[in-house]
Amino acid sequence: MGTAIAPVSCPLDNYLVLPDNSLDDRIQAAKRKVGAECIILGHHYQRDEVIKFADFRGDSYRLAKAASESKGRYIIFCGVHFMAESADVLGRDGQVVILPDLNAGCSMADMAEITQVETAWEHFIRAGITDDKGTGVTPITYVNSTAAIKAFVGERGGLVCTSSNASGAYAWATARNEKVFFLPDQHLGRNTGYAKGIPLNEMVVWDPYMLNGGLTNDQLKRAKVILWKGHCSVHQRFLPEHIERMRADYPGIQIVAHPECRWEVCQKADATGSTDFIIKFVKAAPKGAAIAIGTEMHLVHRLATENPDKTVLSLDDNGCLCTTMYRISPQHLCWALENLVDGNIVNQIKVKPKVKHWAKVALDRMLEVR
Ligand code: 13P
Ligand code: SF4
Repeated sequence: MGTAIAPVSCPLDNYLVLPDNSLDDRIQAAKRKVGAECIILGHHYQRDEVIKFADFRGDSYRLAKAASESKGRYIIFCGVHFMAESADVLGRDGQVVILPDLNAGCSMADMAEITQVETAWEHFIRAGITDDKGTGVTPITYVNSTAAIKAFVGERGGLVCTSSNASGAYAWATARNEKVFFLPDQHLGRNTGYAKGIPLNEMVVWDPYMLNGGLTNDQLKRAKVILWKGHCSVHQRFLPEHIERMRADYPGIQIVAHPECRWEVCQKADATGSTDFIIKFVKAAPKGAAIAIGTEMHLVHRLATENPDKTVLSLDDNGCLCTTMYRISPQHLCWALENLVDGNIVNQIKVKPKVKHWAKVALDRMLEVR
């Protein structure tokens, strides 16, 4: 395998016409050829045809940690864009991160643009609740955000969190300032703040599409938490009535929800937690247990298959698919790997050096907090 970047010898179009199940041998062969130089990381929401090739599977926290510890020269990230960016920030110098399909984004991460975040913060300064260093408000960004936003937060004394350490991130943030600015997922921010004992009436929602975020200075001054108006459309589909229906249909059923679900759903659920937490929850349940899960359907289906002694269901019968995670196909993975074998790097994710520094500060803080 060469290291120089040569013109792409295997055009993607040649792959996209091939059926899913026809590429397994080619993916295996290419993987063998690139060897230990390349690690494939896979998020739990990836489809089975892709995740089976992952050297390491995890939730966004564990994948970020794996990227920061990975020794190989190449990381192929089967996940979404913000995860690949974080891997590039946390990886070693010279390490190359590849996202097999550049269209694999995250609609929630797209709900906060850096210019909108800068505008909000300037408004906070004018309202007298913070300064440009973050004295007064600690910003926390969910890992589902651009590297530029992570850098913004890092430079202002804040940190990144994932769904598995949001509680620790709140504790870290409130030890520095009484007020927290949480973005872009209002639901994770609200669920976590509430679990830390902050009442709902001490949380306000900043709407980037309204003048002054739709808030008065007085509301900003009184609030303990300022939530960004962002959400995950996959997890918003789960409703409290789904829980009621499940409990009526399956007496004794356990409900576990991802904390990106709305507050009313998390309040009614028996437990909430990240994708890793959900997996452990299902594994720990006794034989014969019935469990309904409020998260992306690929993970739910996999858990149902891997736990045949339990009834594992999606909280919503219609299932909820993350269409951007789904964009990573066996065809894209095969294309990225075979190009690597030929010495071509395709779809490299490269965070700008000036963004990298502060994004790394914020991500390192995330890795230190549990
Ligand atoms: P996890 O932190 O549980 O991996 O969640 C990431 C995500 O995007 C869920 O929608
Ligand atoms: Fe983004 Fe939602 Fe997909 Fe997670 S499930 S990657 S938050 S769109």
